[in-house]
Amino acid sequence: LDVSQMLNAFDFEQVAKLKMNKEGWAYYSSGSDDEITLRENHNAFQRIWLRPRVLVDVAKIDLSSQILGFDTSIPLYISATALGRLAHPDGEQALCRAAHASGIIQMIPTLSSCSVDEMLDARADGQIVFSQLYVNQNRQRTLEYIQRIEAEGVRALFITVDAPQLGRREKDMRNKFSKQGTSIQKADETEGKVNRDQGVTRAISSFIDPSLKWEDLQWFFENTKLPIILKGVQCAEDAVLALRYGCAGIVLSNHGGRQLDLARSGIEVLPEVMAALRKEPGYSKQHFEVYVDGGIRRGADIFKALALGATAVGIGRPSIYSLAAFGPEGVERMIEIFKDELEMCMRLMGTPSVAHICEEHVITRNLADHF
Ligand code: FNR
Repeated sequence: LDVSQMLNAFDFEQVAKLKMNKEGWAYYSSGSDDEITLRENHNAFQRIWLRPRVLVDVAKIDLSSQILGFDTSIPLYISATALGRLAHPDGEQALCRAAHASGIIQMIPTLSSCSVDEMLDARADGQIVFSQLYVNQNRQRTLEYIQRIEAEGVRALFITVDAPQLGRREKDMRNKFSKQGTSIQKADETEGKVNRDQGVTRAISSFIDPSLKWEDLQWFFENTKLPIILKGVQCAEDAVLALRYGCAGIVLSNHGGRQLDLARSGIEVLPEVMAALRKEPGYSKQHFEVYVDGGIRRGADIFKALALGATAVGIGRPSIYSLAAFGPEGVERMIEIFKDELEMCMRLMGTPSVAHICEEHVITRNLADHF
């Protein structure tokens, strides 16, 4: 199999399944409980129909846009996924290099396989990366981590808020976790907290603070100047709270179907969130950005999220699957495919640039309406 044979994001998944070992595949591919949300994440996009305009000059299509003011070649970023070395020996470093080559932004995970030093060293001059944070019960550790990444020039902090307890990912739990990989994990192990009996997930997550609450955000604002984005918001009320508390944005995400099963897909949540935000006096799209992740597998999925008000979308599995399948070259090819697909979608939709994409281009009648 050759990378040039890959035609879409699903192709990489098939190859990754063949190439990865059982433990790694189970960890990456699993969702929680009955995996209903996992399946629904992509399916929800298929309920949104497109409403193209014709006779627009689409000779040139411009995919470029900005995330938090930073340039990106396409409104797509690599979301944090733990344990990148289960895909490839270079793990998160390989994703970092591929992100640079493709002109997109990477969000580096707390639960990385590579050390923080290795991840930061992998950046090219001037390359923008964001950081994903699991908040430690030992707040001193979290403080040190934030200060470190801020000093090193990481540009935003995405605090994961959908995982006060890690979901039950049964495929993963059937494998006893044997391999070690992260620096944080090693530190926790010396404190005797790591339980290896229930799969990778349980083994590495025991430090996460389940008592984290809205009022605690103040501590973060006092201790960092980095923009703070909440990753894992799933309804309008919490989106409004994030805005009122002073966050720079939110990711509508259900953690790739790995946390609460039967949570709605991010794209399904987006309309109620945008409707609520637009009613808030302090809201503007420039100062509070909304992202969506989960099930983004086609260029048209990106288009639909933008049409409904998102600034950009995140991808999780497509990046680690393409990395497992063909190394960094695979990741670059996967991103190129997203670009080709989005370009074609925008041309056929009559939208020459990202700014042209709006709500009139999609029909959301088949999405569930909360109100
Ligand atoms: C994740 N995700 C995740 N999120 C997070 O905030 N911290 C983490 O450590 C991880 N780890 C992780 C591992 C693996 C193997 C997967 C698949 C996902 C969630 C991730 O950032 C993102 O929200 C989803 O992956 C998006 O869904 P798709 O693109 O995988 O469908």
